Amino acid sequence: MKQEMMTIVRQKELAPRIYELVLAGELVKEMKMPGQFLHIRVPRNDLLLRRPISINQYDRETGTCTIIYRVEGEGTKVFSELSAGDLLDVMGPLGHGFEINELKSGDTAFIVGGGIGVPPLYQLSKELKKKGVNVIHFLGFGTSEVVYYAEEFEALAETRFSTDDGTFGLQGNVGNLLLAEKKQPTAVFACGNNGLLKTVEQLYAEIDNVQLSLEARMACGMGACYACVCHVPEAENQSVKVCEDGPVFQAGEVIF
Ligand code: FES
Repeated sequence: MKQEMMTIVRQKELAPRIYELVLAGELVKEMKMPGQFLHIRVPRNDLLLRRPISINQYDRETGTCTIIYRVEGEGTKVFSELSAGDLLDVMGPLGHGFEINELKSGDTAFIVGGGIGVPPLYQLSKELKKKGVNVIHFLGFGTSEVVYYAEEFEALAETRFSTDDGTFGLQGNVGNLLLAEKKQPTAVFACGNNGLLKTVEQLYAEIDNVQLSLEARMACGMGACYACVCHVPEAENQSVKVCEDGPVFQAGEVIF
């Protein structure tokens, strides 16, 4: 983990309130695992807490990485007003991402994402494709207006979409997409809200390798403040920290 003033290479609005931000810096060399996140200071003195944002993709050769975030409040609004050449105080990469070492060529991986949980799955998919894994994406959004990265995911592998109102892909949620799927996965990777993660956990209870990336409120982002604690099933006194032990956990490992 490093802390660095990274330079903004470019910023673009992908959909209403959803922004793609490309950053350059030495810190990119440390990025080796999809699913980790950056902890970014808001460049405004009255906003003290850093914002955790997952890494969408990285390229160690060019020293650049991309994050995609949704404007949710004052901090992310400040990010959205920055442009090329501005600097950001970034800590990272942080957390434990997706484990893909066990997968081999010819395995089938389902990659499941919803809404603002979709970004970190992009680098994951790229890494799995490099290994020769057969990937299928299942991506859910609220409505066609807020769909982003559809072409990017389709360029990597077969992709199925759902929207709540049926304006893009199947009408319904990602659970409906998964129920309609006939193939059986070797492993499942998911990132999204708790409802989506619970659906994945239930549908693939028989699969050994199901990895879920949890969304949690964070403060320090590095294991010091206990703001992001989750409990462990059947062990009342045990807990894990989403920022340090996660955000990715095996299904059944934590209560959320
Ligand atoms: Fe502080 Fe996780 S955010 S311990």
